[in-house]
Amino acid sequence: MKISKRLDSIPMSGIRKMFDLAGPDSVHLGLGEPDLDPPPEAIEGMHQAALAHKNKYGPTAGIPELREAVAARSSAYGEVGGGNVMITPSGSTALFEIAQSFIEPGDEVLVPSPGFVVYGPHTALAGGVSKEYRLTEGDFQPDIGDILELLTAKTRMIVVNSPSNPTGGLIGRETKRALLEIAEDRDLHIVSDEVYEPFVYEGEHVSFLDRLDRATVVGGFSKMMAVTGWRLGYICAAAENIEALTKMQYHVCANPHMPSQYGVLEAMSVIEPYLERSRAIYKARRDLITERINGIDGLHMSPPRGAFYAFPSYDMDVTSAEIATEAARSGLICTPGSAFGRYGEGHLRFSYAAGEDKINAGMDILSEVIGRFRK
Ligand SMILES: Cc1ncc(COP(=O)(O)O)c(C=O)c1O
Repeated sequence: MKISKRLDSIPMSGIRKMFDLAGPDSVHLGLGEPDLDPPPEAIEGMHQAALAHKNKYGPTAGIPELREAVAARSSAYGEVGGGNVMITPSGSTALFEIAQSFIEPGDEVLVPSPGFVVYGPHTALAGGVSKEYRLTEGDFQPDIGDILELLTAKTRMIVVNSPSNPTGGLIGRETKRALLEIAEDRDLHIVSDEVYEPFVYEGEHVSFLDRLDRATVVGGFSKMMAVTGWRLGYICAAAENIEALTKMQYHVCANPHMPSQYGVLEAMSVIEPYLERSRAIYKARRDLITERINGIDGLHMSPPRGAFYAFPSYDMDVTSAEIATEAARSGLICTPGSAFGRYGEGHLRFSYAAGEDKINAGMDILSEVIGRFRK
């Protein structure tokens, strides 16, 4: 069958490409996949739910208890009730459903660059046009001047992501204020991807949850509870937007996975101490990888303040794809900055969701690979 032009126009994700080059013993710092164990309560809760015959179709917007639990946790940032929450089959699906529900053909959507790989393709699949706005070098804030230049009469949405994949940067209060001012002036909507909200090591998480009149916020359990395979996330939005999204979700999947919703629900009551432990582990890894990377001639980075990615820049006249390919051939999987958009070039991304022994082994390989390029 002929592939639709919409799908055909979209390249395969650059994150996964490197995997094809990898040998079986490669060190994987390519994927944002936590190696930590999920909270035991989550596993027990899912197990018990399956045993208790909760294996059938369920409510389209998710089980009410979990919607309420997400609302209660989100209330740290704004006024959020169960009616403002829809549980989704992953953060990725949440973003897809938002694009399908609110983008008209021809609408322009501003997406961060470097930025997570799905925002542009989701826009295109909804018939829209994505335009990349620059993040500032160093502290990786959305460049407000660049955003202002990109605005046209067709702009409908601005996507933001904090803490950021791939940069580890956090949006500051001043940037949030400026973004909301633009959104108000131009009657735009902000889609705020906050799936890394639990992982902030310095400073504060600045959320858009207090502005659901102008923003739709995406969250996820994949990273929060180290359950990437369970495929569960959520959307917080104005009640009328949740209604529209629920209609969309019905046609996408009828409802999110039932047993894993009960599992995640059980873990919500113990999540803060679990997250405190996770943060301490990631922070130690972050400090290690920052020190190791800055110890390699030609690579530079500041300690990322959130998420679990290191995104150093380099000062050599080669593409990030060339370096990542050479690294993969040498046994280290990382991601070229160019996979995250045009402003990602000149960087490499390393996930430190992997353990310290892997980080050390990966950095030993990286040091050799960079040394070869600098000869
Ligand atoms: C910024 C960002 N948003 C959303 C997601 C989607 O996560 P999931 O679909 O596992 O919930 C990811 C996954 O890597 C991500 O990095």
